[in-house]
Amino acid sequence: MQKSALSRYQEMIRASLNTYLENSKKGELYAPIHYLLKLGGKRLRPALVLAATDAFDGSAEDAVPAALAIEVFHNFTLMHDDIMDQAPLRRGFETVHVKWNTNAAILSGDTMLVQAYQLLAQSKPNQLPQLLQLFSTTAIEVCEGQQLDMEFENRTDVHVVEYIEMIRLKTSVLLAAALKTGALVANASEEDCEHIYKFGEQIGLAFQLRDDYLDAFGEQEKFGKLVGGDILADKKTFLWIRAHELASETQLEEISLALKSGMTNNQKVEAFKNFFETTGAREELKIRMQSHVDEAMSHLHACNLNENGVTVLQEFVNIIIHREE
Ligand code: IPE
Ligand code: IPE
Ligand code: MG
Ligand code: MG
Ligand code: MG
Repeated sequence: MQKSALSRYQEMIRASLNTYLENSKKGELYAPIHYLLKLGGKRLRPALVLAATDAFDGSAEDAVPAALAIEVFHNFTLMHDDIMDQAPLRRGFETVHVKWNTNAAILSGDTMLVQAYQLLAQSKPNQLPQLLQLFSTTAIEVCEGQQLDMEFENRTDVHVVEYIEMIRLKTSVLLAAALKTGALVANASEEDCEHIYKFGEQIGLAFQLRDDYLDAFGEQEKFGKLVGGDILADKKTFLWIRAHELASETQLEEISLALKSGMTNNQKVEAFKNFFETTGAREELKIRMQSHVDEAMSHLHACNLNENGVTVLQEFVNIIIHREE
């Protein structure tokens, strides 16, 4: 991962999150919360909050409570997502439901959702109604996205349009809300808030496409999650959907025969990776990602940001499309 602007914001977040954790309660309920938050992660969403505040000439310091709220909320979704996806690994370590148990992951996750609201409530009182409204709408949309993600596991006819809507909800809206939160803290105009939100939605789509890509073709050491997890869980990723649409009759027969032959997990992952590659879905994903980046940039250029803000947000876009972790 690149340094500079992102690392500066990550450092601010690390410091304030540490203070938050040091001052928060200890005990069994809180241990999984500390564990997951201390495992780090990229801190992309809170960094987007702070970057947007700076970009609209606000004071990043004022945005710290909201930034932490979004990061704690994100980690809550990961704790529950890992139960739903039966994922063994997160950030290179055991997931909470594996290290403890499912009940612990449910309850500690619930607590984090409430903690996120407590953090958000520390924002400036005059800005709180708008921030709360955005946060709550976003949180429910993420749940709607997660619901679709699970429903799609049992379907084989998911269209790309449905997939895009699913990832917009489960992933994009939180990145978009992070940016808009920063803009609201900086008292940006309504129009700017809308453009920065749209920018976030588009980079969020690119971000999730990259996540799908890395889940199949990434290096586990860097990615920190089980590579092939989406394939084993029958997730309807862009790769899965487009490979099935692009495949020839012969390729479709081959993959369905292979599936009936009773493969090991490793064999299934290898068979699908090969299918994604030979059908051209892997290449197409990169093109699709770029189209969302282009769309994102048009919204970024429509915003009244300071010059440094444009540079920093462009840097974030680069990190998103090239990330390995
Ligand atoms: C993981 O998000 C969940 C997705 C939306 C793909 P990140 O890749 O930002 O996870 P961390 O916080 O850096 O670990
Ligand atoms: C994550 O989607 C979306 C949310 C956690 C809301 P994924 O299931 O692809 O995320 P990872 O890959 O487990 O991080
Ligand atoms: Mg998952
Ligand atoms: Mg999931
Ligand atoms: Mg994923």
